[in-house]
Amino acid sequence: MSTIRPASPPAAEAAASDSAPFIDSQRHLFDMPREVAWLNCAYMSPLLIEAAEAGKAGIARKARPWTITPPDFFSEPERVRALFARIVNAEADDIAIVPSASYGMAVAAKNLPCGRGQEIVVLEDQFPSNYYIWARLAAQRGATVRTVPRAAAEREGGEVDWAAAILEAIGPATAIVALPHCHWTDGSLVDLVAVGQAARAEGAALALDLTQSAGALPFDVTAVQPDFAVAASYKWLLGPYSLGFLYVAPQHRGGVPLEENWITRAGAEDFARLVDYTEDYQSGARRFDMGERSNFHLMPAAEVALTRLLDWGIERIAATLAARNREIARRAREIGLEVPGDRSRAPHYLGLRAANGLPRDLPSRLAADNVFVSVRGESVRVTPHLWTDDVDVDRFFGLIGDALA
Ligand SMILES: Cc1ncc(COP(=O)(O)O)c(C=O)c1O
Repeated sequence: MSTIRPASPPAAEAAASDSAPFIDSQRHLFDMPREVAWLNCAYMSPLLIEAAEAGKAGIARKARPWTITPPDFFSEPERVRALFARIVNAEADDIAIVPSASYGMAVAAKNLPCGRGQEIVVLEDQFPSNYYIWARLAAQRGATVRTVPRAAAEREGGEVDWAAAILEAIGPATAIVALPHCHWTDGSLVDLVAVGQAARAEGAALALDLTQSAGALPFDVTAVQPDFAVAASYKWLLGPYSLGFLYVAPQHRGGVPLEENWITRAGAEDFARLVDYTEDYQSGARRFDMGERSNFHLMPAAEVALTRLLDWGIERIAATLAARNREIARRAREIGLEVPGDRSRAPHYLGLRAANGLPRDLPSRLAADNVFVSVRGESVRVTPHLWTDDVDVDRFFGLIGDALA
């Protein structure tokens, strides 16, 4: 194995920049054995040690329910809601707490108009949680799912211009444009500001799945103006599984939630009066919260993770991961792999392709040596984060050449 060298940013990048906004390796904050090269954040991030401790303390509280007071049902979710809001430049009032991306998309589908003969625009090979719901809605309403083919977005030099191809697809028939910020297979980026403008110009709604980007790629709801935008927390938000966040634009705050639970109704703070049924909801996007959203073990873990992300700063995380990935991309090209061009790739996300295709067992062959990546579609995803260092990357390149031979 290679000798241990200083961690991120990659040595070459660090030397090239005096005032780099890079974040030093944060490997020590994760339970990451030296022999593990976890280049697989797109699959699942590790919890910060501190977040896992907070989650354990949270579950221990359930063993002693007298330590959980009625105000806790509200105060913890409110803090977490406000933290996520800062990640996407929104307000706490704009955010609902959901269990998954698919739940958030189901809320969107329930509340967006879509009529007979209209179209719902998606990308080719889009993630299923942001596809099936639209196929269902189209079938129910006599609408059509219009898929933007990857070939329409491909340009010279490996660049991929999704926005241009999406703009071609948006027209008077478009009811909903349902997209990610970057493609989950290879990280190719979607210019959501341009797409948002085009959708609004046609009176179409914009529903976003930010699961593969929120927390690592700056995103601003005021610039993009989505109708709905969801992010599961267990990847780039460094949060627990089964928790996510849904941004809801002001015009949809009077909408219909998927569930009618007690805590989203006005006055729920008074546990003695819950049977004073009311038509009124808690304010803002809270009406869309999932049932039992006051999750006493996941919420503290999410609070720690989001606080850390905000302390590091999303811009700095993105810059650090961009430098790391540029270096991986350069080395990947040297051994003949195809990489989306630097201009069309989300800085935090890398999908490598081989001209002759990838062996299906590539991930398991690398995993045998504790190097972890994933294959999605035609791409091997290499998605490092702040725990990644030069040793991890050297080990990946030490194995990948043989694996592709
Ligand atoms: C783009 C994208 N969206 C969403 C998810 C997770 O979806 P859900 O929260 O519905 O399980 C994933 C998981 O890989 C994903 O890659």
